[in-house]
Amino acid sequence: MQTKVVSVDPTRIDDACIREAAEQIRAGGLVAFPTETVYGLGADALCPEAAKKIYAAKGRPSDNPLIVHIADYAQLMSVARELPREAKLLADAFWPGPLTMIVWKNELVPRETTGGMDTVAVRMPSHPVALRLIRESGCLIAAPSANVSGRPSPTEASHVAADLDGRIPLILDGGPVGIGIESTIIDLTEEVPMILRPGYITAEMLAAALGEEIRTDPGIIAPDSEQRPKAPGMKYRHYAPKAELILIRGERGRVIREINRLTGEKQQAGLRVGVMASDENAGSYTADCVLCLGAEGDMEAAARQLYGTLREFDRQKADIIYAESPAASGVGAAVMNRLCKAAGYQISDV
Ligand code: TXA
Ligand code: MG
Repeated sequence: MQTKVVSVDPTRIDDACIREAAEQIRAGGLVAFPTETVYGLGADALCPEAAKKIYAAKGRPSDNPLIVHIADYAQLMSVARELPREAKLLADAFWPGPLTMIVWKNELVPRETTGGMDTVAVRMPSHPVALRLIRESGCLIAAPSANVSGRPSPTEASHVAADLDGRIPLILDGGPVGIGIESTIIDLTEEVPMILRPGYITAEMLAAALGEEIRTDPGIIAPDSEQRPKAPGMKYRHYAPKAELILIRGERGRVIREINRLTGEKQQAGLRVGVMASDENAGSYTADCVLCLGAEGDMEAAARQLYGTLREFDRQKADIIYAESPAASGVGAAVMNRLCKAAGYQISDV
């Protein structure tokens, strides 16, 4: 299959492009499109055959449910069996935006879309191209991140093409995304709302909007425990570059010394070493490729650049990557979550 890449300027969206993409979705086909978090791989969420194509293109395990993207609140009501009071509060506070809510599904939503589950994940994205595509298609659009399963999520159209060229008919290129990591997922089917995946919308922001306590899935906090994460996707090694990745955590000077020591060891063994660093520390490293995530403590920059940087290490053929461990507060909690998963939880304290 030939993959067509079409540029769309999000500030002046071309009608013909959107019409072509919408037609593809209505016909049961796949379209990769930008959202404010990462690029999504979209298909008609209510059509089982279309949903199956997503799993096939990504090589995604069929028990890993998809997020349904909507363009107005009534569409949430159209797929939910019942809505808890929190849904409206959170929609008012954060939609359109990088928040996904899990609610009980009704019979309209096929199990192909929900990976066999009785619940459905729903999100209203804020990216103008995503919203236009949903509206123009007249469909609800199921869309996981538009990467091959296990690879870092795509934050630019070129990342989508690198993974899915020849496997999907159409990519809408709306330029680089603004946030760079996937939406926060909150499960509203639990007695106490529970975060299943941290993201740009933090636990503090959610608790403030709800005026009640929320929890975070223990399965994602303590990955070594017996407890499985409730979002099936969170159990896989994920977001990962091809090279082995190890986080080094501790006081700045000690981290730099330890990474340079390890670098020397690995270089002696003939390996090509990468380091992921803050702008301030980058000049202190002796590795073969040193890539920056932004200024120290700027967690929004780190979120925006994380996945592109992981892909860049692959392009530069790093065999092993050492990463400074970022601050885990605010959006940093989500960055740390993705980094830990990409590292297969290899963290070394110095
Ligand atoms: O920002 C995002 O959410 C992006 C953009 C494209 O919208 N999408 C995204 O989709 O990250 P995906 O498929 O890569 O991640 C969806 C996650 C998976 O971990 C999946 O297991 C979980 O959501 N999930 C979906 N439906 C669920 C459900 N009913 N119950 C529990 N977890 C669910
Ligand atoms: Mg994904």
